[in-house]
Amino acid sequence: MSQQKKKVIFSAMQVTGRLHLGNLEGALRNWVRLQDDYELYAGIVDLHSLTTSYEDTGEILENVRQAAVDYLAAGLDPEQTAIVVQSWVPAHCELHALLSMITPVGWLERVPTYKEKREQLHIASPSYGLLGYPVLMAADILVYRGEVVPVGRDQEPHLELTREIARRFNHLYGQTFPEPQSLLTEFAVLPGLDGRKMSKSYGNCIYLSDSPDEVREKVRTMFTDPKKIRKADPGHPDECPVYAYHVAYAPESAEETKRACEAGELGCVAHKKDLGDILTEALTPLWERREALIADPGYVDGVLQKGAQRACEKTDETMELVWRAMKLR
Ligand code: TRP
Repeated sequence: MSQQKKKVIFSAMQVTGRLHLGNLEGALRNWVRLQDDYELYAGIVDLHSLTTSYEDTGEILENVRQAAVDYLAAGLDPEQTAIVVQSWVPAHCELHALLSMITPVGWLERVPTYKEKREQLHIASPSYGLLGYPVLMAADILVYRGEVVPVGRDQEPHLELTREIARRFNHLYGQTFPEPQSLLTEFAVLPGLDGRKMSKSYGNCIYLSDSPDEVREKVRTMFTDPKKIRKADPGHPDECPVYAYHVAYAPESAEETKRACEAGELGCVAHKKDLGDILTEALTPLWERREALIADPGYVDGVLQKGAQRACEKTDETMELVWRAMKLR
């Protein structure tokens, strides 16, 4: 496929800490697969982090750097893919301001994540920025005239809103933006150590920056099928987080493991020991790349600078169209 023909993807992660295996399997690996066939912009959205942690901003820049290391270690190729720190590309903010003028507050108040965040984080007086979170996300995508957005199911309402905003802009000022389609990741999301969704706030994560010993120790503490108390009890692998990891990282031996667990031949302690081996082996190439990248911070900064530059070329084009459509140029 020639460069011109490739469809544009913008996708991103909000980094509130180090990246974990859920981020790797749920998003990063998918981006790596897509980067050959699409013009891919992989965002690190630091402004979105401010919507909830505006008081404590001291760690954001370091998290951004760590995320860049993880993106590269997972296999994003900076020759093909622009790794974009959102705040380094001013057009994200410009388009956000313009889109905010045409987005009814009622649309934003209906977004499920807005209600969830307010409740979970006990936010009594939500900021204008928190309400506008999805408008900033729409700006992220539309400023690249993104056509495809790989996201998890939880982001669907945001994408729907992005399409509504694009339609409204096009209706008001003339056809400018494509309506971006979501590309749902079809593979199962890895559970956390305790079987719930893997999330920093639950303390149930395996981080890409964990050492092999830390990974083995975390695997040792993983929850298994609660109905399997002793080795000889028949297990229910489909309800067991250890088995979910086994399927993800060693599919070739999953069937036999399932049989042995159900037959009471494989105990949870032994299975977790196996999984510790499987995981540390699977992650070794990524760990090696991580170490090399950490030893060369100048390279990583260079990648981010180049990413921002490529992003600006694209977003400048879009903003020119936008200003003209709005008759402000
Ligand atoms: N809201 C997304 C999340 O929490 C992160 C995000 C911000 C994003 N801007 C985006 C994802 C643009 C895709 C496209 O995961």
